[in-house]
Amino acid sequence: MLLLLATSLTLLSSAYASKVAGAWYAGWHATEGYPLSNVSWDKYNTMYYSFATTTSDVNKISLEGSDGWLFPVFVSEAHAHGVEAHIAIGGWDGSIYFSSNVATAENRTAFVNTVIDFVKQYHLDGVNFDWEYPNEQGIGCNIVNSNDTANFLSFLRELREDCSHLTISAAVSLTPFRDSNGDPSTDVSAFAKVLDYIAIMNYDVWDSESWSPGVGPNAPLNDSCASSSEQQGSAVSAVKAWSNAGMPVDQIVLGVPSYGYSYSVNSSGAFVSGTKTLAAYPVFNSSNQPLGDAWDNTGSVDSCGVYQGSGGTFNFWGLVDGGFLNSEGTTAQGIYYRFDSCSQTPYVYNETSEVMISYDNAESFTAKGTFIKNAGLLGYAMWEAGGDYNNILIDAINSAI
Ligand SMILES: *[C@@H]1O[C@H](CO)[C@@H](O)[C@H](O)[C@H]1NC(C)=O
Ligand SMILES: *[C@@H]1O[C@H](CO)[C@@H](O)[C@H](O)[C@H]1NC(C)=O
Ligand SMILES: *[C@@H]1O[C@H](CO)[C@@H](O)[C@H](O)[C@H]1NC(C)=O
Ligand SMILES: *[C@@H]1O[C@H](CO)[C@@H](O)[C@H](O)[C@H]1NC(C)=O
Ligand SMILES: *[C@@H]1O[C@H](CO)[C@@H](O)[C@H](O)[C@H]1NC(C)=O
Ligand SMILES: *[C@@H]1O[C@H](CO)[C@@H](O)[C@H](O)[C@H]1NC(C)=O
Ligand SMILES: *[C@@H]1O[C@H](CO)[C@@H](O)[C@H](O)[C@H]1NC(C)=O
Repeated sequence: MLLLLATSLTLLSSAYASKVAGAWYAGWHATEGYPLSNVSWDKYNTMYYSFATTTSDVNKISLEGSDGWLFPVFVSEAHAHGVEAHIAIGGWDGSIYFSSNVATAENRTAFVNTVIDFVKQYHLDGVNFDWEYPNEQGIGCNIVNSNDTANFLSFLRELREDCSHLTISAAVSLTPFRDSNGDPSTDVSAFAKVLDYIAIMNYDVWDSESWSPGVGPNAPLNDSCASSSEQQGSAVSAVKAWSNAGMPVDQIVLGVPSYGYSYSVNSSGAFVSGTKTLAAYPVFNSSNQPLGDAWDNTGSVDSCGVYQGSGGTFNFWGLVDGGFLNSEGTTAQGIYYRFDSCSQTPYVYNETSEVMISYDNAESFTAKGTFIKNAGLLGYAMWEAGGDYNNILIDAINSAI
């Protein structure tokens, strides 16, 4: 009887815990207003510390730049709250040496040992590989090899063989890992056997810094309802692409953003002519990037040694801070608002400063949570934990799921 009870309790709790409710904790924000004491641990079951970066030495990953002294505290805090502690390896700035680390059998074994030693040293529950990206340039100075995806798979197989109990995941782009020709892989089923799950980074789809011709959604839920030139990827299209290539939907976690992008748009472009209704996809002035919130880069040298100006990002709290939203997360007085029903994301506009911001609000997170539930995905992972304001976003997605 006791045994039966214990068994059914285990079943119950594992069913409850079967969805991933995760977020990345950006170590460098610990000293910029988001210390560990600010984390709402009870909202999550998984937290990924960002980042351990790859280095030119296959025997070493580095916490330099991510307040590494804090990492052991992060792990014990997570465990004290019953939350899995994972390390995110790589990231936009930290993926330079993934390719060489997995390039040969010798290096793969060495890198497997590097990761395992790190896991043991810090008592981790999981590893999240954030390689941006196999056989595709990211920041600009990554080592890239046409065999990256195949080598990554061989590496993961060896890691999995050595660590059957470790949760192994990968943060991935909207399309499956590039094959040796540079095309999205058509069969990633072998990755599904060694990874517990992938987390699709469905954000930065439109941003003010790169290709975008107009102000578009940072993190569209859907784009098949948009006109063809505005179909640049979405949660819907990415899940379809990965599952068509053999990744089971119940091994897909949706990456969701607690931030958005600002753009400079004058009032003749911002409004539908003759009205005060915000126009869709207005043209912006790319040589006038507005500064984002207090966490935005005011300009710095990246890990390739290249100067980067402001990214113009606003965290959700930054939108409140900047007067665009009030403390309930709704539009502040004097600010114009538009909600795009295809992407399920909003836009706010200050006519005086000519700043337009595309972001995710509670309604967007509710829509994403509903999609996760209805499509049978494994859960969500939010970049980043510290972006939310009073748990408005996280409460919305948790309730929907
Ligand atoms: C962290 O917590 C403090 C105290 O509750 C609060 O004032 C601050 O806004 C929080 N910061 C973030 C980024 O959530
Ligand atoms: C293997 O790793 C070492 C660094 O530890 C690197 O110097 C070497 O280039 C790597 N091998 C390949 C083929 O990339
Ligand atoms: C890719 O792997 C194949 C077979 O293992 C090898 O012949 C080829 O040289 C590799 N290509 C590169 C660019 O390393
Ligand atoms: C995405 O848009 C297509 C086309 O309008 C629609 O059929 C589909 O139901 C939408 N999916 C979601 C999850 O919104
Ligand atoms: C408004 O912005 C558009 C796009 O950047 C530009 O072509 C136009 O000249 C601007 N109009 C005024 C009045 O500045
Ligand atoms: C875009 O912004 C730059 C820098 O502020 C300004 O010099 C230029 O006139 C603007 N272009 C338009 C079309 O408004
Ligand atoms: C809009 O921007 C102007 C200029 O930066 C600022 O003075 C004003 O307070 C902003 N409006 C709102 C509602 O925040």
